[in-house]
Amino acid sequence: MCGIVGYIGHRTAQDFLLEGLRRLEYRGYDSAGTATITADAQLNITKSVGRIASLAQAIAANPPCTAGAGIGHTRWATHGAATIDNAHPHLGGEQGDQILAITHNGVIENFAELRSSLKARGFEFTSETDSEVVAHLIAETFKKHCEKSNGAPITHATGVNAIKEAIAQLRGTYGLAIIFKHWPEAIFAARLGSPLVIGVGDGEHFLASDAQPLIGYTDKIVYLADHQVAVLEADSLQVSHRDAGAIAHDVRVLDVESNQVEMGDYDHYMLKEIFEQPEALRNTMRGRLSEDDATAVFGGLNLTPADLLKVKRIVFTACGTSWHSGLVGEYLLEDIAQIPVEVEYASELRYRNPPMDDGSLLFAITQSGETADTLAALREMKRKGHMTMAICNVVGSSIAQEADGGIYLHAGPEIGVASTKAYTSQCLALTMLALYLGRLRHLSYNKGRKMINAIRQVPDLVEEALKQNDRIAEIAAKYQHCNNFLYLGRHYNFPTALEGALKLKEISYVHAEGYPAAEMKHGPIALVDKETPSVFVMPQGFIYEKVMSNLEETKARSGPVIAIAAEGDTRIAEVADDVIYIPQTIEYLQPIVSAIPLQLLSYHIAVLRGCDVDKPRNLAKSVTVE
Ligand code: AGP
Repeated sequence: MCGIVGYIGHRTAQDFLLEGLRRLEYRGYDSAGTATITADAQLNITKSVGRIASLAQAIAANPPCTAGAGIGHTRWATHGAATIDNAHPHLGGEQGDQILAITHNGVIENFAELRSSLKARGFEFTSETDSEVVAHLIAETFKKHCEKSNGAPITHATGVNAIKEAIAQLRGTYGLAIIFKHWPEAIFAARLGSPLVIGVGDGEHFLASDAQPLIGYTDKIVYLADHQVAVLEADSLQVSHRDAGAIAHDVRVLDVESNQVEMGDYDHYMLKEIFEQPEALRNTMRGRLSEDDATAVFGGLNLTPADLLKVKRIVFTACGTSWHSGLVGEYLLEDIAQIPVEVEYASELRYRNPPMDDGSLLFAITQSGETADTLAALREMKRKGHMTMAICNVVGSSIAQEADGGIYLHAGPEIGVASTKAYTSQCLALTMLALYLGRLRHLSYNKGRKMINAIRQVPDLVEEALKQNDRIAEIAAKYQHCNNFLYLGRHYNFPTALEGALKLKEISYVHAEGYPAAEMKHGPIALVDKETPSVFVMPQGFIYEKVMSNLEETKARSGPVIAIAAEGDTRIAEVADDVIYIPQTIEYLQPIVSAIPLQLLSYHIAVLRGCDVDKPRNLAKSVTVE
């Protein structure tokens, strides 16, 4: 969704802003813009609709601007279409006397009433956005503070007080970057419910809505918390609380290398991330398996074994792909640890009122750690007094910070909108959680050791599965014209079928449905025809024969079948139209290995259909609105 960047220091701000906005492209957006302050104290704004490349062209067409302070934005339209007028930054102040520019992430819920009262007080609006009201409100409060100063010098404190007074009138969420034309040497930031991080450099400070733009520029970062307002100057950073005074800020180390956010030799981030999975899985399991105790080790749960023994039920909450890994978690925890599990869409859980007794433990599963619905569901459960855990990839993200404990995935930055390596790392983290909770209960030492041996092989099995890439590309070419697909699997492979269908839908815009294979005869089999391929996920396991019957039923109705099957399965080749072979593994690890060919199949179909794989239409990487 929307992205923010800001810079103050010895570089040309515009250069960092453009590079930073490119790094935020993965979040999804439809227009972009920058604001800097010229030497003669004028606000210099450039905006464009579409990609950052168009913004770069528009900037290049202007006279060069070497200002050292500026802010930038990528907008994912919510209030008003993707137009130049609606693109950020927005100016604040009376017509002809605009004194500041802002960029805003989040949603202002009371914008309509604020807009009418600002209009009544003479402010003119040039956009349909909720954000423009924030610009005018701050300009208005700033003017009041200046008038009240009775000739005393106007300092940054005046700006901060004006911002605090204005944001106190807002209902909703905001991450704000603000520049005042009076102060070419400072940028201001404020946050409530929409993340902002500050990079601390040598004689420079950076601002961004997530850490991606900062990577390679600085590894020292400050996570701004809710209700905090910051003033960034080249050599200083001051943070204060909206309702209190100055507060000390923690500078943390950002542990990401710049090559982790570059595409390298790959055509798309999604393909790079698919191929990074063996390494991501190794990182997820690193240091977390103990042969001596035949169990998994988690440093961050903040719950003792005695606490965990009191857990009677686990609730996983998540959205999209992370919800699918929650389903995998349900199969794993019930099978291996014998703990009852429920999997709830976060968008539903936040407004439902399910009975949660003392023995319930909530896990929010999220790659980004910023998904608005998942955060809200976690807060609702916290409010009710339950312990909350996060299974999260992004260190320092809102959900990671607000949960009482959790498991970081360490899968590395995931830039492609379609989640791939985070998904398989989530499945692996959940497998290790099942081992840990199982070993606290009935799982024997011997079985624990066997599980560890199997888990350790997973990255190599994934590497083997990736070798099918060329074969999968051929199959994709054969079926790329089809407009409907079915994805079918049973038991551990049912969530995989759902995830395969979602992957195809989101990046190739092809309609796809995932079902438990045996459900076909209760309705969906009516969809089967010569033009509707069914992807059967059916590695060897106790359910194999049953799935084979479901496959035969599809073939009997002339439906083309692509099977994901275990190496050595010669029987499948006689019935399926096409087979993608993957290495055989124990059933509870199949969700990880079987996901690989489905990711690659979606990728190749999307590329063949000319889709923008890393930036699919209408989608955003972090869904920070409800
Ligand atoms: C994944 O391919 C999707 N783009 C999407 O469903 C995603 O998984 C969902 O928005 C949840 O995101 P999160 O894991 O960052 O919370």
